[in-house]
Amino acid sequence: MILYFSGTGNSLAISRYIAEKLNETVMPLSQAVHHDLSQERRIGLVYPSYWFNAPRAVTELLPRLQLPKEAYVFIVIPCGAQAGNSIHTVQKLLSDKGLKLAYSQKIRVPDNSAVGFGRNPNQQVWKFEKYAERLERIVEEIAAGTQSLHYAWWGPIGALCARPGVQRRTLPMLTPAVNTDLCVGCGICANVCPQDNIALTDGKARCGDNCTQCLACVHFCPHLAVEINGKAVKQEFRYHHPDIKLADMVLR
Ligand SMILES: Cc1cc2nc3c(=O)[nH]c(=O)nc-3n(C[C@H](O)[C@H](O)[C@H](O)COP(=O)(O)O)c2cc1C
Repeated sequence: MILYFSGTGNSLAISRYIAEKLNETVMPLSQAVHHDLSQERRIGLVYPSYWFNAPRAVTELLPRLQLPKEAYVFIVIPCGAQAGNSIHTVQKLLSDKGLKLAYSQKIRVPDNSAVGFGRNPNQQVWKFEKYAERLERIVEEIAAGTQSLHYAWWGPIGALCARPGVQRRTLPMLTPAVNTDLCVGCGICANVCPQDNIALTDGKARCGDNCTQCLACVHFCPHLAVEINGKAVKQEFRYHHPDIKLADMVLR
């Protein structure tokens, strides 16, 4: 069983690839909390790195999962550059549930957060050049039951990122808000939000206060109505994994 969290499809595409090769099933973490997974012999976790750590959605959902104690557990992190503490944090949560992490690896993919810094993630497609080969190797290692951890513990930098002062300044850079002048109330943002944090009120989308900053709403809004840091994101800067379509995200 491969459990994923994904805002722009990188983690979903990688989960699907691994699942197909290993004859496994894919399930979003948000649904997995409603299933008993205690008979699974292999558990994969695929989620992005956010601010050099695991997304809040992952750290909140993981403790609620019913997981097998004896399974082969692996983590794959699709990230723009660095996994930071995102493996270490989840390894600790797994260990609190009595599970041993057997394998972890990161894989570089176009960085969906680049839009927050005025950079175009679509100009990072060169990352896909090494991706296929690397993903193939990761699959081979998992299939062979390899015990190996890509141990990117960024203790001091992770601690710095978690400081309230740093968070106050950095979090708004990637927190979406709806420009109601541009919103046509199509509901796409609400459907792709994995946190169910967007609702339609009076024909306009509105964000709640449970955003995990996955940026799905920003990248999938066809009207460029979801902005970050008070700025519109240009059409050509909108990114999602090329194999993942809107329907795949809505089906999660
Ligand atoms: C809020 C936020 C923070 C991010 N922080 C990092 C980071 O610290 N390091 C990194 O390499 N990539 C970072 N990224 C990029 C994502 O990890 C990367 O684009 C990932 O593949 C997205 O996965 P998804 O398409 O499944 O949502 C960040 C993205 C977001 C939205």
